[in-house]
Amino acid sequence: MKNKLNEIVFYDEGICTGIPLVFLHGFPFTHEMWKFQIEKFSASRRVISPDLRGHGESGVGDGQYTIELFVDDLIRILDHLEIQKVILCGLSMGGYIALRTAERHPERLAGLVLCDTKSEADANEAKIKRAGAMQTVKTKGVEVFAGDFIKSVLTEASLQDTSEIRKFVLGLILKNSALGIAGALLAMAARVDTTASLSKIHVPTLLLVGEEDRLTPPAASEAMAQKIPSAEIHRIPSAGHLSNIENKEFFNTQLAGFLQKNFT
Ligand code: MLT
Repeated sequence: MKNKLNEIVFYDEGICTGIPLVFLHGFPFTHEMWKFQIEKFSASRRVISPDLRGHGESGVGDGQYTIELFVDDLIRILDHLEIQKVILCGLSMGGYIALRTAERHPERLAGLVLCDTKSEADANEAKIKRAGAMQTVKTKGVEVFAGDFIKSVLTEASLQDTSEIRKFVLGLILKNSALGIAGALLAMAARVDTTASLSKIHVPTLLLVGEEDRLTPPAASEAMAQKIPSAEIHRIPSAGHLSNIENKEFFNTQLAGFLQKNFT
């Protein structure tokens, strides 16, 4: 069911048993990037998936976002729904938000799922690249930006012109505005490093990463897994940065196993 809290749209589906699962999408997508997971996991638990501020159907506002603001938006939704604890699953930028939530609001987490993400902040080179991407999206538009961006997130196979995955992912990006995309780039460039808090995460944690992820490579997930006390990690074969889409079957099997083991 679609809901709106202030300017943030979120979907609340599934059955109200057990601990709810919250999906935070990556940049620059919408909650629909979790389509294959929402379909599967809402059969057995409550699943909540927001369009982050500036994305999808949520308001774009002034286009100035921070990861802190995305965390505040998430907590506002949980408070509104009177949900104390969730299993928080974030991919890439969604993972940055999940990690910062773990740091700021550890009492709201029952479990954590970190997909194709990392705990380090942007190095100078990455910040400069973001500045370039902001210019591109603002001056040349979302379509040109999207054409460049997908090259860094998908595998060679998914990038083929005939690929359904390519079409799906491009469609997701095109649901966003240039101002929203630029705002999210700014938020990611300004995010803090959460590495020092990894050892303080004391909830069951699953790390999933595409074997061919070039943006947040498996080594970054492995480094996090070594620091998080109760972490389980799996590499997703035949997948790049969007492992939940590029190999949805393998991804869903790992997530289902983790939920079964820790939350039934
Ligand atoms: C994402 O997929 O959320 C972003 O590409 C992550 C990033 O650019 O750091």
